Amino acid sequence: MNRSDLQSEIRDLLRERNGILLAHYYQREEVQEIADFLGDSLALSIEAAQTEAEVIVFAGVHFMAESASILCPDKTVLLPHLDAGCPLADKITPGALEKARQRYPDAAVVTYINSSAEIKAHSDICCTSSNAVKVVKSLQDSRQILMIPDGNLARYVARFTDKEIIPWDGYCPFHHFVQPEEIARAKAEHPDALFIAHPECNAAVVEMADFVGSTSAMIEFCRTTEAKEIIVGTEIGIMTPLKKQNPEKIFISPSEHLVCQTMKMITLENILESLKTMKPVVKVPEAIRIPAKRALDRMLAIR
Ligand code: 13P
Repeated sequence: MNRSDLQSEIRDLLRERNGILLAHYYQREEVQEIADFLGDSLALSIEAAQTEAEVIVFAGVHFMAESASILCPDKTVLLPHLDAGCPLADKITPGALEKARQRYPDAAVVTYINSSAEIKAHSDICCTSSNAVKVVKSLQDSRQILMIPDGNLARYVARFTDKEIIPWDGYCPFHHFVQPEEIARAKAEHPDALFIAHPECNAAVVEMADFVGSTSAMIEFCRTTEAKEIIVGTEIGIMTPLKKQNPEKIFISPSEHLVCQTMKMITLENILESLKTMKPVVKVPEAIRIPAKRALDRMLAIR
């Protein structure tokens, strides 16, 4: 079957099943094209919480499907490829978190949404890269914050607060390993370009950025900036909406590291198969879901 046949069969089945397709900006172009909703981690969670559809097909990675299951326990959440995990989410275990809680008994635990449901269940509040600073500032009674599992995001947030931020030592491999030298090279090749970075990049790279923000903040920046050339420090999937919205601008990826292999595991073929078989389902057990939902709801209440 060719691309457009697959796409129209998926759309037909979504209608039949009363389903919606949610896709992250890092998804393949052909998947983004047929999504009901395209967004960053925060917007996707909000959409999942609000949808009236009975079936949510998540074109994203495992923690995103888990968040949908946590927020909408009565809906069927499908993740078309169960191996589509997040290496950053795997950088912490409940046992390691428990030890850190014992070491810092007064710290509030702020957990990046890129984490398992079980880790969220042991957290005080969640955050995404869109709202991390706001979430930390909202914790008026806490002077000390344990930010898990992304150390780069934690160090970035620390610039905006006088609370003590304790970073976990996790990282997203594709953001973390972008090198300052790669950015310097891209800047030398494109002297008029601005450089924008995701806060999951390492501190030396963030330091070089003209703008730092979540995927949706980067998209908004590119839409409104007068710059004609932009070096984009995040996963290459974001090039799809950037090019579509700004056909007159030039976007440059500075590093070959910026490809999330697990996001790319979701294909039109496995979305179709998943809708046909209604598998694989992601369902978070109630004992984990309820405390995890508390942490997510607390975040969603902050606007
Ligand atoms: P955003 O919240 O910017 O969508 O970040 C998503 C993500 O997983 C980055 O790796």
